Amino acid sequence: MTEADDINISVIGMGYVGLASGLGYTSHGYRTTITDIISSRVENLKKGIMPFFEPHLQGLVNKEVESGMLRASTNNIETIRESNVTFICVGTPSLHDGSADLKFVREVAKDIGIAIRDKREYHVVVVKSTVLPCTTESIVLPVVEEFSGKKAGDEFGIIMNPEFLRQGQAVHDSLHPDRIIIGQMDDRAGEMVHRIYEGYTDEKGDPVPILHVEIKAAELIKYAANSLLATKISFANEFARICEKFNIDVYDVMKGVGLDSRINPLFLNAGCGFGGSCFPKDVNAIVSMAEAIEVETPIMEAVLHTNDIQPMHFVSIIEDVVGDLEGKVVAFLGLSFKPDTDDVRETRALPIIQKLYLEGARIRAYDPQASDRFRSLTDLPITYTDSIEEALDGADFAVIQSDWNDFRNIEPATFKRLLREPVVIDGRRTYDPKEMKSAGITYRAIGWKNTW
Ligand code: UGA
Repeated sequence: MTEADDINISVIGMGYVGLASGLGYTSHGYRTTITDIISSRVENLKKGIMPFFEPHLQGLVNKEVESGMLRASTNNIETIRESNVTFICVGTPSLHDGSADLKFVREVAKDIGIAIRDKREYHVVVVKSTVLPCTTESIVLPVVEEFSGKKAGDEFGIIMNPEFLRQGQAVHDSLHPDRIIIGQMDDRAGEMVHRIYEGYTDEKGDPVPILHVEIKAAELIKYAANSLLATKISFANEFARICEKFNIDVYDVMKGVGLDSRINPLFLNAGCGFGGSCFPKDVNAIVSMAEAIEVETPIMEAVLHTNDIQPMHFVSIIEDVVGDLEGKVVAFLGLSFKPDTDDVRETRALPIIQKLYLEGARIRAYDPQASDRFRSLTDLPITYTDSIEEALDGADFAVIQSDWNDFRNIEPATFKRLLREPVVIDGRRTYDPKEMKSAGITYRAIGWKNTW
């Protein structure tokens, strides 16, 4: 019997976290069933159709489904009952006051309670969804106890195991995480989850560090990590604005800063601000929780403020370059919140496009994956194109909102040939200004020199 033979895993929630984590478990030899309440998702997965675009996901899922290691179901209770470790991977969306909506987490906790009620075998409940400190112990645990009639720590184990994967790199991050955090009440449950992860390696093949902490600490590690990453981005964006005044390249500045091993160069790329389903939600949740417990968080509030003003700052750069926007046609490239995903949650493209439209511009937009999802965010009269060329053809100028590789690969000559005026304004750092200049293009990028 191999080590994995006595652990069967159920994963509740077929989002990025559930699906990518599930692949991690199957690739380490653990039979895994993922459930979702949306039956079309489950049926589609069995047919090889993914619920969202994520690089490398489809091939791996199909392989694991074919081999029988990965299964999908809509039946939470049956799936949980047939497993002995359940990962809760459902969403915790923001409520109006910035706090997290725990409706889905509660429902799953109830299903787990019902499922394990008549089970004699020990079961471990693992919260992977992002939840604020105390949620696992004061919400999940009592609900499971109530519906199972069992005692935590004795008849079932409870663990908090936050997820750190990035969309666009979800498969890689799940197979090769930087670290595993196991928040535990007791050693028995902690050791069982430790076993699942002990074969995980980084890209070089070295074992991934596994840190055992208290449950509340594990919950807060997730928020602290996301808040610090968001802080690095807002910090770079603030310096971008300073750099623009001095004609300095903020990417040079942050490169110099990031070479300090105490800092590191990652997440110091200036842009239009951070979006997505995590940073804005998680930093807001920390601020709102801190307010409730009467703790001041001026750093986090400033991180959000800087992020709110960055898209408008980008529009002011656009206006500085092209002048009056009335009647101008803008080729807008990039609608998702970052490259390699079709996710448009909190995308900076929305406030930028809304402002451009208010100023009289006509929007012609292209994204390699996200146009359909963006359409559902706004009913502004945007022309969605099927190709980069179609977006550029005859437009007055081009704007880059996210640095998809498809956009990086646009030759300066293509801009020159297709745009009415050869003007490119870059909300990222997508092109080499020298190449753009020598092709005769007026090029301006965020956080960079405005004269050449
Ligand atoms: C983020 C974290 O990076 C993951 O570790 C975490 O697990 C995840 O949230 C989560 O909580 O589930 P994600 O939202 O997928 O992952 O995307 P990131 O790659 O972190 O990018 C977030 C935003 O920051 C994007 O809008 C991106 O364009 C922006 N960003 C990122 C910058 O503007 N500059 C940077 O240097 C890096």
